[in-house]
Amino acid sequence: METNKIDLKKEQKVSLERPRYNYSLAAKIFFFSMDLVTGWEITLGKTKLIEILASIPYRSWEIRQYGRMTRKYKDSNFVDKSGKIMEWSREAQDNEYWHLRVINEKMKEDGIKDPWYLFPLVPFILVSLYSLMTRLMAFLNIRRAFLFNAEFEDHAEHVYAKFVLDNPQWEDQPVNSDLVKQYADVKTWADVFRRIGLDERDHLNHSFVLCGKPENVVKYDGMPESIL
Ligand SMILES: [Fe+2]
Ligand SMILES: [Fe+2]
Repeated sequence: METNKIDLKKEQKVSLERPRYNYSLAAKIFFFSMDLVTGWEITLGKTKLIEILASIPYRSWEIRQYGRMTRKYKDSNFVDKSGKIMEWSREAQDNEYWHLRVINEKMKEDGIKDPWYLFPLVPFILVSLYSLMTRLMAFLNIRRAFLFNAEFEDHAEHVYAKFVLDNPQWEDQPVNSDLVKQYADVKTWADVFRRIGLDERDHLNHSFVLCGKPENVVKYDGMPESIL
């Protein structure tokens, strides 16, 4: 993960100061339900659940785009356009999976056990419901599906910015894990979580572009060019 040119501290401040997107009722209900399950406080367990759910829409879109590309393989323009969404969906999905593994490393390091809602049956139910919901949304109205994801990612970006603020001890905790270093070449755990938060902003920006609302993109120095 390229972080050299990016001022992670500055971007965390930008996230904290930027008001949340004006969430739809559906998104508000979704976040409220997640808080009901995990509690209101931001914890590593809660972010793990966010990451387990985060990759699901990308997986739905990848499958959807591949199906469409197979049906319309003779239409090169369509294949090019769909192929870009599919590639980004794969990339974002892998990135969310990295977040999950990195958070797991932090929990191992701190000796924190998984909370009750991470034991298999609960994630299975939540993942199944969210899979169904994202597939249905993509089928009925793909733009709305992209917008819902933008709302999800806006929420996630704010969660991580606040999480780092709530844990000042991370500023002095060095990153020793090789796995975490593979994810981001940064020195402290505070910066690891800032980097995760900025990834969520990239996901947010991509989702805004795809749903036809590029005016909502949150630009910053070092932003990937692929976004616009
Ligand atoms: Fe994530
Ligand atoms: Fe994300």
